[in-house]
Amino acid sequence: MVREGIYVDATFGRGGHTRRLLEVLGAGSRVVAVDRDPEAIAAGKLLAADDSRLQVCHGRFSELDQLLKGLQISEVQGVLMDLGTSSPQLDDARRGFSFRFDAPLDMRMDTTGGESAAEWLNDASEQDIARVLREYGEERYARRVAAAIVAARPVHTTAELAALVSRAQPRSTPGKHDATRVFQAIRMQVNQELPELQAGLVAAFGVLRPGGRLAVISFHSLEDRLVKRYFRDRSRPPQLPRRLPVRAAASQAEARIVAGPLQPGEAEIRANPRARSALLRVLEKAA
Ligand SMILES: C[S@@+](CC[C@H](N)C(=O)[O-])C[C@H]1O[C@@H](n2cnc3c(N)ncnc32)[C@H](O)[C@@H]1O
Repeated sequence: MVREGIYVDATFGRGGHTRRLLEVLGAGSRVVAVDRDPEAIAAGKLLAADDSRLQVCHGRFSELDQLLKGLQISEVQGVLMDLGTSSPQLDDARRGFSFRFDAPLDMRMDTTGGESAAEWLNDASEQDIARVLREYGEERYARRVAAAIVAARPVHTTAELAALVSRAQPRSTPGKHDATRVFQAIRMQVNQELPELQAGLVAAFGVLRPGGRLAVISFHSLEDRLVKRYFRDRSRPPQLPRRLPVRAAASQAEARIVAGPLQPGEAEIRANPRARSALLRVLEKAA
């Protein structure tokens, strides 16, 4: 069955999901691909040159309503958000996301503006750094690591940061590089990932037409907690004073949860090991 409609891939990356959407959608459909990373947008433009159903937008998913307004689109059939960093971001040494390569500490998904990780680390208070490492990285030694960073400032490279972290932690966690949680926390701070996600969920739900679906793939518990709570709140009937005479429609929930949490199967994890911690949840707006 050929499906038709306007769909949004809010996290284009290198377009795996967009390509699949274009495969299953008919000639009258449109896909709007959004990403805050200019390199993802450059890749998207190449794909759009071959398929006139695809439109590519540079921006944040928290401003999805504005981005769609710019394309004269007021509502869509579906929005997909595949959170976190893309493989090209992690694997390109120049981007500074990973301690596997020595590079300038950048970590911005959108390299056209905003503060780099080095700028933030060299300017933030010790208390702020410790809070970010604790809240976003669940780092046990957040205070020690923050103190070591502040004492060694300025810090410019991924290797300097990784070495500092290793020295500040009293012992390493088996199987995990010492700096994993610290790098994750700083990346989430630099890109404001949780506030973006919270605003992105609201924006995406707002542009859905009745019966439209929002699918979100998250990669760690902090993200999934936000998604789960947002979906639960939308799918609860409104709290109305008892014995108040209300029409049935007024007591209905805005949405229903149609899937999730779904985990990838073994074959998918084998083919794509980075998918191992992914969780998919799907919400459908009331018709
Ligand atoms: C996990 S990757 C998506 C991979 C994609 N599904 C694919 O098939 O290649 C996440 C992408 O979302 C982008 N991104 C993250 N947060 C964003 C936001 N708030 N707004 C727009 N794009 C965002 C990142 O730049 C990255 O390219």
